[in-house]
Amino acid sequence: MSDTLGPVATAVRSMLDSAGGGRRESEIVATTIGRLVASGELLAGDRLPTVRTLAKAVGISPTTVSEAWRSLSSAGVITTNGRNGTRVRALAGSAAPTRYRALGTGAETFRIDLSSGVPDPMLLPDLGPSMARVGRADLTSSYLDDPVVPGFGEHLASTWPFPAASLTVVDGCLDALDRISAEILPFGSAVLVEEPTFPPLIDLLERLGCEVIGVAIDAEGPVPDDLARGLGADPVAFFTQPRAHNPTGVSMSERRAGEIAQVLRSTKTLVVEDDHAWGISTGPVESLGDLLPDRVVHIRGFSKSHGPDLRLAAIGGPSEVIERVRARRMLGAGWSSRLLQLLLLDMLSDETVIEAIATARSVYTSRRKRFLERLRTHGIDLDDGDGLNLWVPVDDEQSALVALAAAGVRVAPGAPFTLGGRADHLRLTVGLLPESDADWLAGLVASAARSGASARVSGGLAPMSM
Ligand SMILES: Cc1ncc(COP(=O)(O)O)c(C=O)c1O
Repeated sequence: MSDTLGPVATAVRSMLDSAGGGRRESEIVATTIGRLVASGELLAGDRLPTVRTLAKAVGISPTTVSEAWRSLSSAGVITTNGRNGTRVRALAGSAAPTRYRALGTGAETFRIDLSSGVPDPMLLPDLGPSMARVGRADLTSSYLDDPVVPGFGEHLASTWPFPAASLTVVDGCLDALDRISAEILPFGSAVLVEEPTFPPLIDLLERLGCEVIGVAIDAEGPVPDDLARGLGADPVAFFTQPRAHNPTGVSMSERRAGEIAQVLRSTKTLVVEDDHAWGISTGPVESLGDLLPDRVVHIRGFSKSHGPDLRLAAIGGPSEVIERVRARRMLGAGWSSRLLQLLLLDMLSDETVIEAIATARSVYTSRRKRFLERLRTHGIDLDDGDGLNLWVPVDDEQSALVALAAAGVRVAPGAPFTLGGRADHLRLTVGLLPESDADWLAGLVASAARSGASARVSGGLAPMSM
């Protein structure tokens, strides 16, 4: 819509005429504009008439239009920018999680799939014995019971990296990120994320209408100077993965944690720590919780150690945030399945399960080390890192993906992990790669990384794993 006065005035006049009594005029004006935007009659960037012009054209008071403009602005539908006037805002991200989708599974079958970021099903603990015990447990008696089962809260509090004012349990780390974000980030908030980072987090923040700003990461964690630069946007929150960072494998060093806390100390920015690979990470978690009291929400995920299908994560931090998450949840699912919580709690104290997870941790470490060693022999020298994933620089992402696919190997493109879609890395879930396959695959990856589309498996077909 180029000249919006005519159509907006007509729509508003007709809504005012047809509305029954009891509704405020400003509310009717605001919902009319909202509908024009939702139906596509007003497009992002369209300039709205000035308050006085619209008021005069419709025959209402300028105060009424101003009030409507204020509520539309706080709902993020319009934005007023000095001489540029009042315009329709660009919609917050599309409903489709574009980066997440770009990692998609596709229909083709690959001989080796290192694209998924998931733990090896063969290294997950056996649920059988715990299930048998939990099957006899007493479950919910009231919808208003504590959402955390007895004993689990105590376990979490005693193992939490800092004294958390409040703790609760949700359906996995991504659910935690979603619920925390919904509570703390008003539409239009500036937020900082490490770059690269977990693609669904970027999708989620964009969907919430945030201005997402990247903070560079090096071998010790987020780079303090870059974080300081990002603070210029007055961000509401900084999202970080303290260890086994996905995709890079970086864990924050103790020294870096101190530097980061120093940079953040004089601000109000909340830190959201996603310890998604708890249980399979080999290093300690350097949480900022003790350094920035009441400013850190910490997430502990159980998917990588105990299984993604348990769908459980714990969150702990300032009551203000955690209690809001709990309260909001009462108007939805209410709690994470107590059956699953009891199952997890049982496994957390079962010696056989504890041993199985220790074994998984050491197998992941050996697989990673072996692949890194082999890659070094081909001239690609990467930091050791931690967790399931490896972030491999390539000359050209698309050609490297094609070269690997031609050899039956699927890996994840790097671009979805970046804000600007930079296509110069691949993410390999080497936690899934048997050591026996490290040799030939390292050669293939090195050649795909350098020579792009011309890379081919030499000597015919690569051996099958599994
Ligand atoms: C950084 C990060 N956060 C969150 C998740 C999602 O974890 P969950 O299965 O606990 O939802 C993942 C999954 O790989 C991840 O890498």
